[in-house]
Amino acid sequence: MEPTGWAGVYREGRGLYTLNARPGERVYGETLRTVDGREYRQWDPFRSKLAAFLVRGASEPGPWAGARSVLYLGGAHGTTVSHLSDLLPDARLFVVEKSPASFGTLLALARRRSNIYPLLDDAQLPERYSAEVGPVDFVYQDVAQRSQAAIFIENVRVALAPGGRAVLMLKVRSVSQRGSSVAIVREARRTLERASLSISEEISLSPFAREHVALAGHR
Ligand SMILES: C[S@@+](CC[C@H](N)C(=O)[O-])C[C@H]1O[C@@H](n2cnc3c(N)ncnc32)[C@H](O)[C@@H]1O
Repeated sequence: MEPTGWAGVYREGRGLYTLNARPGERVYGETLRTVDGREYRQWDPFRSKLAAFLVRGASEPGPWAGARSVLYLGGAHGTTVSHLSDLLPDARLFVVEKSPASFGTLLALARRRSNIYPLLDDAQLPERYSAEVGPVDFVYQDVAQRSQAAIFIENVRVALAPGGRAVLMLKVRSVSQRGSSVAIVREARRTLERASLSISEEISLSPFAREHVALAGHR
């Protein structure tokens, strides 16, 4: 098991791993590996777009590096959230999820991992949770909605601290079924830049997540 240049991420062979904050516990059926008395969880790029972003060439040390607080939009059952929880054991991870069914699983995960603060809410209405969340160092969004870019810039506006980092996992065909992917991504990128985000990375997540592009930047 070798450390990588991404903060807190390890590699063995072609696999990526994070150090398991809850040794002995799996979150989504992932492989566990113990090396020199430390347990690692395999981070599957087919299950987590953040892992796909790394495998497809994200810059080091990764947008979460050094974050003390994170706003995560679209937590679902907590697959990616659980790896961020491993990566940032001392940070506060505020996770917004609007589906009550998914939220139940997320809540159960948060009971076992004290750095996760789940919020059953709608990412389209950040004013409902911004006071609780406060300024954060990293905003991550994966909500697969038509208005993804607008939701993202509004959350960045209310919650991202100056100098903070932000990643939008853009699901191209949720924006529009018609038109070229290139044009849809270009328009989303322009929307982010008009909202004063400097976009430093634009990375296709294919073949791990089809028709998804990661747009990463900072304020
Ligand atoms: C693709 S899944 C997220 C997967 C998750 N990020 C992961 O990697 O483990 C998208 C999630 O976004 C949630 N979602 C969609 N629109 C939302 C909104 N407006 N506010 C909060 N959550 C939303 C959905 O309920 C769904 O659970």
